[in-house]
Amino acid sequence: MKNIIAFAGSNSKNSINKQLAVYTSSLINDVDVMILDLNDFELPIYGIDYENEVGIPENAQNFLSLIQSSDGIVLSLAEHNGSYATVFKNIFDWMSRIDKNVWADKPMLLMSTSPGGRGGATVLESAKSTFPHLGGNIVNSISVPSFHDNFKDGKISNEEINEKIIESVLNFKSKL
Ligand SMILES: Cc1cc2nc3c(=O)[nH]c(=O)nc-3n(C[C@H](O)[C@H](O)[C@H](O)COP(=O)(O)O)c2cc1C
Repeated sequence: MKNIIAFAGSNSKNSINKQLAVYTSSLINDVDVMILDLNDFELPIYGIDYENEVGIPENAQNFLSLIQSSDGIVLSLAEHNGSYATVFKNIFDWMSRIDKNVWADKPMLLMSTSPGGRGGATVLESAKSTFPHLGGNIVNSISVPSFHDNFKDGKISNEEINEKIIESVLNFKSKL
């Protein structure tokens, strides 16, 4: 059986992006899903001096190894001031110091959501343009606007958005 990892670019305990990644990955039939949480991979803030003096912390390698040993990735990005949440940018930067091919060419279903009407579309666009240069193989991307209006009881409640997610999941599954 194929195994995928699903996680959010957030360290919020109540992360809406994690809720979305968990829901989306639950729609993928016949795969083993490992839900990851960036809180379990604590890292110092990236800095070249730290890297030169101390080296690359183990948690960066640990997370990278999970990417490399997976068959696919479901990632939902939080948007902070139009960009990645710090915790995500940090682990991303650390991993890129080990291997530029961070995403290891694994099929990726890339998502974002926010309470606002743009659903993190800015960070999603940024990731879409950057990830392919770092081994990203984005097979679908979806932003879910107005999370709290469109997600209820652990599920997407908006039919139209749900249909889009199901379509993307099927496409993602076919690429694993
Ligand atoms: C520092 C900060 C900046 C934010 N900037 C944005 C933003 O640019 N666009 C947006 O849609 N939401 C923004 N938000 C709201 C987040 O989308 C919201 O906190 C969301 O819950 C984050 O996702 P998470 O719950 O998965 O961490 C911001 C929140 C914080 C704390």
